[in-house]
Amino acid sequence: MSLERKDFLGLYDVKADDIYQILDTAEAMKEIFTRTVKKVPTLRGKTIVNLFFEPSTRTKSSFDLAAKRLSADVMSISKSTSSVVKGETLLDTAKTMEVMGADVVVIRHSVPGAPQFLANNIRASVLNAGDGAHGHPTQALLDLYTMREKLGRIEGLKVLIIGDIGHSRVAHSNIWGLTELGAEVRVAGPATLIPAEVEKMGVKTYNNLDKALQDVDVVNILRIQLERQASGLFPSIREYRHFYGMNKERLEEAGKDLLVMHPGPMNRGIEIDSSVADSEQSVITEQVTNGVAIRMALLYLLAGREIEDEDLA
Ligand code: CP
Repeated sequence: MSLERKDFLGLYDVKADDIYQILDTAEAMKEIFTRTVKKVPTLRGKTIVNLFFEPSTRTKSSFDLAAKRLSADVMSISKSTSSVVKGETLLDTAKTMEVMGADVVVIRHSVPGAPQFLANNIRASVLNAGDGAHGHPTQALLDLYTMREKLGRIEGLKVLIIGDIGHSRVAHSNIWGLTELGAEVRVAGPATLIPAEVEKMGVKTYNNLDKALQDVDVVNILRIQLERQASGLFPSIREYRHFYGMNKERLEEAGKDLLVMHPGPMNRGIEIDSSVADSEQSVITEQVTNGVAIRMALLYLLAGREIEDEDLA
């Protein structure tokens, strides 16, 4: 089984069949988590390089764990401890990893398009682990996986994304994936954080959170990037929390069937109250677990292109 592509750079050009192939593969990978020995030999002899040029807890550790559970060799490079601080370029760093035998380079970078640039210039597969405000495809895939796992489908779901839509790679990737699979997507937040062009992506915009929450199946709450306040894009944290924070009252008003998601890291008490984050309706911790399965699926589909499916047994 394979994706007919060398690289996985975003969801903007991925069709529904391929998304479902990744979700189904992740489901098979998740079964491995229930075993006493949570490891399969599928990618033995393959080398995965994690190039993380931006801080990360969830994505970095789950790519690391995903590669190890598939028995690949893993090398992890972070900006602060690499020769990038001595002036080495991104491409020279990646090429150095490639000549050591990298089959897949996973990259997180603050510059939108950095994964595409590497993909154009190295022979190894490149997997986007988040590039600036552009895309975070593995986060969106784990979000889609969690929605399907909990609600049984994605098509026809009403999904509300709250927060800083304009600067959010999570929002962009979710919108591409959800609309491709036939979900109805709404976005809510201050007008200064929602670019007008977002409606061209097929979503409905709201500045009133309580209206936006009516009849939704899933709410995906984005981390408010605190530096945006310094740029004057919203007046105060207190005001943001009042108008756009997901709290107990809003959760109760929305109903007990609403699924609560957050990609993390969370600002508790700002965009999400602990009473919501830790409620029975929250699947935030399950999103993290599912992230390992999604990353295993993508590493398998990219690095294991010539490997037969029976090797998963
Ligand atoms: N959701 C997410 O990308 O988290 P990290 O920044 O911790 O990887």
